[in-house]
Amino acid sequence: MPKAKKSDISVSVIKRLPRYYRFIGELVKQGTVRISSGELAEKMSLTASQIRQDLNCFGGFGQQGYGYNLAELRTEIGKILGISQGYKTIIIGAGNLGHAIAAHMDFREYGCRLVGIFDNDPKKAGSRVADLEVMPVSELDSFCIREQPKIAVLCIPKTAAQELADKLISLGINAFWNFSHYDIKITHKDVVVENVHLGDSIMMLSYALNNADESEKE
Ligand code: NAI
Repeated sequence: MPKAKKSDISVSVIKRLPRYYRFIGELVKQGTVRISSGELAEKMSLTASQIRQDLNCFGGFGQQGYGYNLAELRTEIGKILGISQGYKTIIIGAGNLGHAIAAHMDFREYGCRLVGIFDNDPKKAGSRVADLEVMPVSELDSFCIREQPKIAVLCIPKTAAQELADKLISLGINAFWNFSHYDIKITHKDVVVENVHLGDSIMMLSYALNNADESEKE
């Protein structure tokens, strides 16, 4: 099966790739060399035909009677996700969330490299978080010119988000992982944003529980 051009892969397949990458990575760590679409489907609660359709986009890793070569498939999915790029990443806001993300996220595993953390509270400048010294925002310009980070993780209050995002774009940031609870507006076509609201996830649980209650009453 020929590999699809990157631009031909649909957005819905791309959105499933991190989950494939994670599951396949776990299997590789456990020493599994190959797997059939049926076995992978069972582990991921998908259908075998969905798996075959999705993974066919990446070329001939599935063979009749052999299954998928997991290491090769993982490498290929990693390439599409840009995992090998090591994009330089900075965190803005060294509060509770900024600390937690810096300390507990293994950025390298996801194709990124945490190179700086900034805060506008003078009391925080100089403190250490995950092997990095918190820098004052007054150093942001010179740092960005020197290091050219591409991704910013926004862990600041919503009131500061838009102004800071605009400044960071002018300093060459192309991607935002935005936790600020403010959906920043981007007018530059080359800039991408992932707005993260953990509350949205828990509301889905609340919705499911609420619906289960409703159906029990019927
Ligand atoms: P925090 O108050 O502990 O930390 C915020 C930090 O940002 C402080 O150190 C502050 O000095 C710094 N800061 C404020 N304005 C700044 C600016 N203009 N430039 C640089 N640094 C600045 O707050 P926490 O708990 O870490 O939360 C951070 C933000 O993330 C809040 O807006 C909170 O609502 C949000 N949040 C979002 C979640 C989500 O799922 N999206 C989950 C948890 C928190």
